[in-house]
Amino acid sequence: TGKFTYDPGFLSTASCNSTITYIDGDKGELLYRGYPIEQLAVNCDYLDTCYLLLYGELPNTEQRGTFHSRVINHTMVNEQMQFFLRGFRRDAHPMAVLTGLVGALSAFYHDSTDINNPEHREIAAIRLIAKMPTLVAMAYKYTVGQPYIYPKNDLSYAGNFMRMMFATPCEEYKVNPVIERALDRIFILHADHEQNASTSTVRLCGSSGTNPFAAIAAGVACLWGPSHGGANEACLNMLGDIQKMGGVAKVGEFMSQVKDKNSGVKLMGFGHRVYKNYDPRAKLMRETCHEVLGELGLHNDPLFKLAMELEKIALEDDYFVARKLYPNVDFYSGIVQRAIGIPVSLFTAIFALARTVGWIAQLNEMIADPEYKIGRPRQLFVGAEKRDVKPLAER
Ligand code: CMC
Repeated sequence: TGKFTYDPGFLSTASCNSTITYIDGDKGELLYRGYPIEQLAVNCDYLDTCYLLLYGELPNTEQRGTFHSRVINHTMVNEQMQFFLRGFRRDAHPMAVLTGLVGALSAFYHDSTDINNPEHREIAAIRLIAKMPTLVAMAYKYTVGQPYIYPKNDLSYAGNFMRMMFATPCEEYKVNPVIERALDRIFILHADHEQNASTSTVRLCGSSGTNPFAAIAAGVACLWGPSHGGANEACLNMLGDIQKMGGVAKVGEFMSQVKDKNSGVKLMGFGHRVYKNYDPRAKLMRETCHEVLGELGLHNDPLFKLAMELEKIALEDDYFVARKLYPNVDFYSGIVQRAIGIPVSLFTAIFALARTVGWIAQLNEMIADPEYKIGRPRQLFVGAEKRDVKPLAER
């Protein structure tokens, strides 16, 4: 009609001003509040990164201590949550469970549900960051039929999550520091990624004035999709399929399928809407993959070998070079998670855990913006013209 701009998939529409995350897709650069992801991954931990995303600066020693203890104070969830969880089938997908559990938090914490109140938003942020590992671990324990393990607050954020996931009441559990650091890095690398589908969902949902827990639950639901958070699961399944075909010897054959446009086969973990260069998160993930497999004595892991071979061939292949297709974060993260012992069906829930802080930071930014309005896209109507309802007998 000329009245509105039509931009399917929002390929060229900026939905907001933001100061949180910057991506230069051509250079393969990712900055949180101006800091390169490579420096954050080496010099900071996940909770430092959370502080940075929420408050705009890295914490000093005192701020760090206060923030850590505030988060620790909220790691437990209300015991009633267990009854809610028990309502699910044991074989429920963890993301189905997580969507429900996160949404249900709004029914427990009435002092943090007013999205327009900065104090409510602040305490909701702390609660969500603190409780996500507990909820994800509970969802996992429920699936495998083991007792829930309560948080242990003298452990690090990642260490506490590992213990809640893998400890049992029968024996002592010792956190492996190499795995702990790797998990923490996975959390840092997934903490925010500007206006992707789930983040835009959280903003749109929150713009109606709903409570912060409900808005984050909407983000979890959106992330679940295979084109978004579900890609690492798909990548690992692809590596498993090639392995079944015959492994490294069959890489050439598989690549021919990928390049055949009629096959519908894609090299999962490759390509990105924004990055037209190596995804900086993938580089760090590859390094972490080496460390974790080395620590666990899995250097010869066939899926890792397969992934390295695929990467090597793809980076030299005209098809991939011409289209600027490089590995993305999902190419190696599945291998790391699998080596740590995280089941494939939980991969997206781990992503949700880590992304929660990004969602909240973006939500806060939106509400604090004086130009903020309820999100309300327009449409180009292409349906039937005005017409009259005929009596039933004449239709
Ligand atoms: N394997 C084979 N060909 C590919 C691939 C791939 N992984 N990715 C893109 N192409 C081809 C595509 O067919 C197209 O070819 P042509 O120009 O001849 O038609 C060209 O490259 C451009 O791709 P596109 O589909 O137009 O690019 P897009 O920006 O719409 O899609 C993408 C980006 C990530 C959806 C896509 O690259 C893809 O499906 N990759 C595999 C799935 C994946 O790894 N997703 C994780 C993304 S990172 C995690 C996150 O941010 O959630």
